[in-house]
Order: sequence, then structure tokens, then C-alpha cells
Amino acid sequence: MRQINHAEAVHRARVLISQMTLTEKSGQISQAFAAPFMPPLDDAVAAGRLGSLLFVSDPARINHYQRLAVEQSRLGIPLLFGFDVIHGLRTIFPVPLGLAASFDPDLVEQAQAAAAAEARASGIHWAFAPMVDIARDPRWGRIVEGAGEDPHLGSVMAAAQVRGLQGPELGTPGRIIAGPKHFLGYGAAPGGRDYEPVSLSDAEIRNVYLPPFVAAIRAGAGNIMSAYMDINQQPAVAAKWLLDDLLRGELGFTGFVVSDANGVQNQIAQHFAVDEADAALRALNAGNDMEMAMGPNAFARLPALVEQGQLPMATLDLAVERVLVAKIRMGLFESPFVDEAAAEPVLADPKHRALAQVAAERSLVLLHNQGNCLPLTPGVARRVAVIGPLADSVPDTLGPWVFVPDKRETVTVARGIAEHLAGRATVEVQPGVQLHRMMPSGLEAFGPRLKPWTAAEAEAHFDAAVDAARGADQTILVLGEAQSQSGERASASDLTLPGGQLELLDAVLATGKPVVLVLLAGRPLDISALVPRVPAILMSWYPGTRGGTAVARTLFGDINPGGKLPVTWPRHVGQVPIHYGRSRTHTPDRADSLYHDGPSTPLYPFGHGLSYTSFQIEPPVLDKAVLIPGEHVAITTRITNIGSHSGDEVVQLYVHQRAGRAMRPARELKAFQRVSLEPGESREVRFVIDTEMLSYWHSGERRVLLDPGQFDLWIGTDAHADLHLTLIVA
Ligand code: BGC
Repeated sequence: MRQINHAEAVHRARVLISQMTLTEKSGQISQAFAAPFMPPLDDAVAAGRLGSLLFVSDPARINHYQRLAVEQSRLGIPLLFGFDVIHGLRTIFPVPLGLAASFDPDLVEQAQAAAAAEARASGIHWAFAPMVDIARDPRWGRIVEGAGEDPHLGSVMAAAQVRGLQGPELGTPGRIIAGPKHFLGYGAAPGGRDYEPVSLSDAEIRNVYLPPFVAAIRAGAGNIMSAYMDINQQPAVAAKWLLDDLLRGELGFTGFVVSDANGVQNQIAQHFAVDEADAALRALNAGNDMEMAMGPNAFARLPALVEQGQLPMATLDLAVERVLVAKIRMGLFESPFVDEAAAEPVLADPKHRALAQVAAERSLVLLHNQGNCLPLTPGVARRVAVIGPLADSVPDTLGPWVFVPDKRETVTVARGIAEHLAGRATVEVQPGVQLHRMMPSGLEAFGPRLKPWTAAEAEAHFDAAVDAARGADQTILVLGEAQSQSGERASASDLTLPGGQLELLDAVLATGKPVVLVLLAGRPLDISALVPRVPAILMSWYPGTRGGTAVARTLFGDINPGGKLPVTWPRHVGQVPIHYGRSRTHTPDRADSLYHDGPSTPLYPFGHGLSYTSFQIEPPVLDKAVLIPGEHVAITTRITNIGSHSGDEVVQLYVHQRAGRAMRPARELKAFQRVSLEPGESREVRFVIDTEMLSYWHSGERRVLLDPGQFDLWIGTDAHADLHLTLIVA
């Protein structure tokens, strides 16, 4: 199919707009939720009162709605189908926080390209992804959906996901529109409480929360989703300074902006807008082009507002134009329908499953491995117990934001271990305890329901798990948080293992049998009390369709873990927020004693992750001691695998500005490279440092600056990297 460029699409859109009625225009920029439990939408689609639907993923249903739009609506404008393709559609990849832990943008790009292929083959045109919100508070449930705390890692992962989902340009065959979200600052939720008002300084916006969006826009993202919460006392959906001035004016975004689900209507509940008409007017004027509605849509009020002279026709037309341009560039007018018979082979593509396994393997982070307890040798333990509520749970292997996976394909940790050890050991699986949210979320309709055990059942399950450990030569505990305890509306005030998992762990440890721990969770949990008692801990996030295979291969040494933490891991919830990119303060030597009642250092730094082998990194060298603005310098080091396993290390470069017009973070990640090395092999790693890397937004001067003077550079394998050099910026 011929690719349609932006200018041509604009021209075609304007021709269409000149033929549209007011109702068709407001309809074109209205998106409705097409879930089975919502009122039917057929009439509205046929009447041209809807331009987009979300939540349909079945090709036959997509074609059904598309036929109504194309064959029955007056102008035959096709619908745009959007879906939360967050970490896969049928083949589920690790959750985005896990993908970020791979520190492997090429892999992440491939994963999202596979997700896009499955979506497009199903008739979906647009993903409400990637979520690129920087998140520095693990209490916030949605930390799982992003790349963690760091602006640089977040930017690299944002761009990789956009490239994967969308391809080199909008309309690339087999790809879909990427919609980075939520613009802007949603991840700064105070107390980690979802949807809470956010206050952000200009400097935090520009230097921390904006960079991933800049990267996503540079990668060509065709859509942006505005955010729910209020930022600096105005709902983000109504913030013209954000959407129109910053996003479009300064960043040059030319795609369309969608509100978050019900975000336009929410302004009434937020006590910001008076009524639907007011809400619609504010959202459109601020720069949203499409309303994602969950029920009645406020944008239906737009025609009356135009007629009453409260809304210029040109404002409405511009939003319609941006939506039509996306449809035209995606080729929907040429081929609106999906080939229903062609979907299944793409959805069932074994290459996607294989990629999901590699992605899971590369996302695993070995947090702790006392006395090289891991890897285990298959067959040494003849009786293996796999214990824990997450051990054999399909939804908890896949994680949140998963709607149409192939459950039979999903390999849980227990299944992965049983398959891996087949013929070499017997495997007994026991859940021990059940995990439930304490508070309802309102989103339960989308997730699996667990029938609660009676007290007698609970006791029997607990005892059976402890008996299994007692009878085993090796126990593998699989603990963490259930998928319903992670994601939207799943913030946590306590980071210790929920449910009766600590009691289960105590009882299993009391058997005296060897134990290792696999953690499944969407955030760092408080495991301080566990570390001294459990010799090995493998952080597995929610590893996806082939997660159990990846975990088993890692536990038993076929895979050497090389993932790294994309977030600083606190010792205790009271330390939160504890990201590494804070400034030095006037007492930098007291950084580890900022509390009188315990250490203020994290349990594990950002970037941490162990390996079954060891690496040596040589002191780096700079090719020039002075950086002339506009030029660049290179820093080079050499890394050698000095152990006996092949393995991966992520070489990381951190910088710090010694003095200048602002206080800059004590450290900032600026570059990284994941390298794979055989035992004895060594590789040169080279990073180019340019002036953009050392520049920052100055809130007083309201512009990006480069301060001359001395900069510290560190090379290493986590945020505590200690191979140090200095660089002078002239
Ligand atoms: C979330 C969005 C999501 C949308 C549609 C909202 O509740 O905040 O991230 O894309 O629902 O499911």
C-alpha cells in the first residue's frame, strides 16, 4: 500500500471536513467504549456520531462496526480502533517495568513490533501505549506500566516502544499508532495515591517528566493521551499551557491528542467544570482532539456551542482534521476492514512466543545470591516444591493490562519448572495462601476473580504447602503481589509481602530445607527482612506468556540473568521517594544517615543486578579533557568477563555538574550499553558525550543551558558506579 504523507493527508481531510455537518464533526472526535457490558453502539456508529471505538479486539466485531461506519454512515468515514496494547495482545511480554529492566531497547522495540503485528492483524489501529510517565514512588500502582524513575532510561525506552509499535512512520504496514501517555506528570502522584493532584515545578517538568515525551515525539508518535489528575491546580486535560503551548507549540507535536477515559467529563467531578458543555469546551480549547468517553460523551455538546457562538468552528475543524489525518495516514480509507482469516496465524505466531521468552529472560534481575546459591543444578534435588500463591497462577504470570491472552499458552513458574525438570525430579506445587485486595478497585470487571477460601480450606492449603517443603530437597518460593494488586487503582501503602505470605515464608524456612525466592511483582517490595534469611532472590516482574520457562531456565543456569533495576529499591516504605537523582544537599557525607532510626541508603541502587559470572571494568579514558560547546568527547572503557559463565553486563555512564547556575542531581544516567560476553572475552565500550547530554532547563532563565566548568563522570554497573573521571566544559 502507498504511504500517505502528512501534507497530502491534511488536504484530503479538509475536503472531507467541508462536507461534514456539525454533528458529524463532533462525532468524528468522539470515542466510545465498546465493551460487552456497555449499551450498544450500532446506531451511533451508523449515524456518524462516533469516530473511534476502544476495547474491541475481535476481528469479526471490528468488521461489524466498520461496516456500519463505512457502508451506512453518510460520509462513510471509517472508524479508528484503539486498545490498551500495553505489553502484548495475545502473546504477552513482560510488563513495561520488566522490559525496561532489560536495558535493551532493541529487544523492547522488537517486542512492541510483535504486539503491533498482533493488534493490526486483529483490526486494531492504535495502542494507548507506551506509558512514559516517570515514576519515583513504588507505592504508585502504575509504576509497573512505565520504565521507572530515570529520565534517560525512560526516554530510550519511550523511543524504542514508539518505533516498535508504529514503525519508521505512521501508516507502516502491520504497525499501529503509538500513543504515549499521560501528558503530563501523572507519575508524581503524592503518597503514590492514584489520580491525586500533582504539583510540579517548572524544572521538574522540563528536566524529569518531559524528556521521555520528547523522545517519543522525536520517534514520531502519532498520538498523545492527556492525563487525569490535576497538575498545578488545573486538570491536565484542561491545561492549555501543557497541550497547546508546550506539546504542540514548543515540542512541535503534529498528531492528535486524546483525553484519558472519561477525562473530559471528569472535570465536573473534579469541581473544575460546571457541566458537560463547559467540560467539552475546556478540553477542546486546551488542545484535546478526541474525547475518550466511558459513557455519555461531553463532545456531543460541541455543535450547540458552535451554534451559540461559544466555540469557533475553526477550533472544532482543527481537531477533526487531526483525527482524520491519522485515519488517512493509516490507510483506513483504502482498506478499512481486517482480513478475519489472516488474524489467527499472526496471533499464534511461534516467533512471538519465542521473542516473549527472550524478553522475559533478559528482564530478570538477580537481586541477591549469597554464596552463589544460584544457579541450581537440575536433578541434584530429586524432589522440588514450588510454593506460593503466584507459583501457578496464569493471571499473575501475565500481570495487569492483559485482556485477551492465550491462557493455555501461558507458562507459569510452576509449569516452567516442571517442564524443565521433567524426568530429572518430581515437582510438587502448592499455593499455600491466597492473595486478595483489601479494597475494591472498580476495575475488577476486567480481571480474573478468585473464589475466596473458607477458613478450613485456608488452613489445609497452608499446611499442604509446608508439608511439601518438608518433603522436598529444594523449595522454590514464588511470592510477591497479585496482578490485581498492581497497576491502575492499585497503589499500596505498605510494601511488605501482602496476604499471609510472610507467615508462609516463615513456616517454609522453619522446615530447614533449602529455599530460593522468585518474586513476581510490579514494583520494588520491602524485602529487607527476607534478604538475611533467603540465600537467593530473583526479581521476575510479571514475566508474561513464556515467563515460567524464562524463570526456570534462569534458576537452573541455562540463562545467566543480566537485567538491572530501572528503579531504586527502598529498604522500607518510609524511605519513599528514594530515587538516585536527588541533589547533594549541604551535607553530602551524611547521605546514608538522614534518618535517626535506620539507614537512608536504598536496599539496592538503581541499575543493580547480579550475574552468575563476574566482570571487570577498566578505568575509563577520555579522548579530550575539555568539551567545547557544540562538539563532543568520547569516554572509553573495556569490560572483561572474568568468571566462568557466559553472561551480560550493563555498562552505565553517570554524570554530575560541579557548579553552575543551578544545582543539578548528584548523579544522572546519560548512557548505557548491555554487552554479552563469553568467559574470558572482553569488549571495548565507548560513549559519546555531547553538549545536549550536559544541558538542562533553568527555571529562572526559562531556557536550556549549558554551564561551563567541571563535570564528574562515572562508569560502572549501577548508580554507585565508582570509576571516576572529570571533564571540563569550556
Ligand atoms: C487509563 C489509561 C487507559 C484507559 C483506557 C484509563 O483508566 O488511565 O491509561 O489507556 O483507561 O483503558
